[in-house]
Amino acid sequence: MPKRQRVIIDTDPGHDDAVAILLALACEELEVLGLTAVAGNVPLHLTEKNARIICELAERTDVPVFAGCEKPMKRALVTAEEVHGKSGLDGPELWEPSMELQKTHAVDFIIETIAASPENSVVLCPIGPLTNIATAFERKPEIISRIQEIVLMGGAYFQVGNVTPAAEFNIYVDPDAAQIVFRSGAPITVLPLDVTHKVMTTPRRLRAFRDLGSRVGHVVAELTGFYERFDLNKYGMEGAPLHDPCTIAYLVRPELFSGRHINVEIETESELTRGMTVADWWGVTSRKPNANFIGDADAVRFYSFITEKLAIY
Ligand code: RIB
Ligand code: CA
Repeated sequence: MPKRQRVIIDTDPGHDDAVAILLALACEELEVLGLTAVAGNVPLHLTEKNARIICELAERTDVPVFAGCEKPMKRALVTAEEVHGKSGLDGPELWEPSMELQKTHAVDFIIETIAASPENSVVLCPIGPLTNIATAFERKPEIISRIQEIVLMGGAYFQVGNVTPAAEFNIYVDPDAAQIVFRSGAPITVLPLDVTHKVMTTPRRLRAFRDLGSRVGHVVAELTGFYERFDLNKYGMEGAPLHDPCTIAYLVRPELFSGRHINVEIETESELTRGMTVADWWGVTSRKPNANFIGDADAVRFYSFITEKLAIY
């Protein structure tokens, strides 16, 4: 087996975050160095708590959980309880976690881990607003050149926005952080709505999770079942896009995805288009390509991959 990828997952659980974390912890191809929580879907005190619940559900309390930034770099926090419920993980019966939250701040953990690791040996996998990542880059720019890759869920181009007509939630919440990350020079792969909207849940796919017969399988079916009702009401979509697990699937099975290396800039000024990822898909500008922007995925093999991996629990 090729060398395991060492990954920090920066997260705002969140239903799809939960599935992504459970998937990552089930992949022997990945070594999850830690979970760094950020304010996003719900406030920080809930995202860090939910991250600990997910580690307990996976019976992986060896994975350290760190709390990070409780608000965006410049903007007021915008949350998404209408999608994820007040707790951030509404739907299944969950519990108060007993595993410890680490005392180290998430930003310090990111900086210290990258600084102490050999070059190109840490992958950052942000699946929420980019506040923690950008804060680490501002505080310690010398870590940027040491990062193996950033594989993030965020942005949209052909699929346009899900929180405004122009912007996807993770980028909208902290556009200034996103601008810092996209201009950092770090190697970036982006899993935008363009691809996540091609991997929709269906009753048959949810049944496959439930049929795993494990507590994890049951909770994943409950979480995705709760989460898809929002998209049904909002978009009239049968099913929900499984956003965040796309990053983990890309890390382990990149051949399931396709995209282009293009320039992506972030709108930070205009209130009308704040958080828009201006993706030069057709190369009509002279702006330097800075991101591998994924546009397509093999949905059937994506769900088979997730179901196979979750069967480990
Ligand atoms: O727009 C989808 C993204 O916003 C996902 O990461 C979801 O968890 C929310 O954070
Ligand atoms: Ca998320």
